[in-house]
Amino acid sequence: MANRLPLIAGNWKMHMTGAEAAQAAKRLKELVAGVAGVEVMIAPPFTALYQTAAELSGSAIALGAQNMHWESKGAFTGEIAPAMLKAAGCRYVIIGHSERRQLFGETDQNINKKIRAAIAAGLQPVFCIGETESERESGQTFSVLDKQTRKGLEGFVLQDLKSLVVAYEPVWAIGTGKTATKEQAQEVHAHVRRQLAERVDPDFARHLRILYGGSVKPSNIRELMAMPDVDGALVGGASLDPQTFSQLVHYQS
Ligand code: 13P
Repeated sequence: MANRLPLIAGNWKMHMTGAEAAQAAKRLKELVAGVAGVEVMIAPPFTALYQTAAELSGSAIALGAQNMHWESKGAFTGEIAPAMLKAAGCRYVIIGHSERRQLFGETDQNINKKIRAAIAAGLQPVFCIGETESERESGQTFSVLDKQTRKGLEGFVLQDLKSLVVAYEPVWAIGTGKTATKEQAQEVHAHVRRQLAERVDPDFARHLRILYGGSVKPSNIRELMAMPDVDGALVGGASLDPQTFSQLVHYQS
């Protein structure tokens, strides 16, 4: 099996001012100091990036952003460019989160442009995919995910995708307390990996990290992470409290 470094990532969504984020980052840094064999990332809101980066300097915790625009500059009121995130200290950027897709009309085409722009700027995209409850119930899970990955990654060559991370976040499991079972997560992750092995490259797929997201908490992370194709977690609610999030990071102990 490929050696994939697990990634435990916190998506703080629209929570925390700069000062609050810096405080949480400081606490988290203490709580996860010395942890080995797992990478940790937090994605605070844009306005908290600089303060959080300052707090994280000298620590192994990576900084991420939650979204970005694909253009490098211009008349795009309210948007943030890739180079701005890079300058703020981001290593990662979450792209295509289901809340962006559902609440802000983000399309597969826009997501494709964002992934391309992130890679060009030297940011690692965390590309989110996931089906709704009705799509799952009507047996469309795989076809929905296949369409999202096909369109999201259309036109890319293997070399572009080396830094990509995929996050499978079933929409019905986000913020609902309803987690996908470990078997459901494994089934989807294995499917996505197989698809990408066929469509992109087997070696790329073997090394690709696929995170699970949706009501991940200390009580279920261990069984999810024990699945062979689950390479990490993208965590919302349970990442806001440093103590709880550090328990997720320490899932192996
Ligand atoms: P919850 O962990 O709150 O369900 O959110 C998951 C998520 O959307 C992470 O991006």
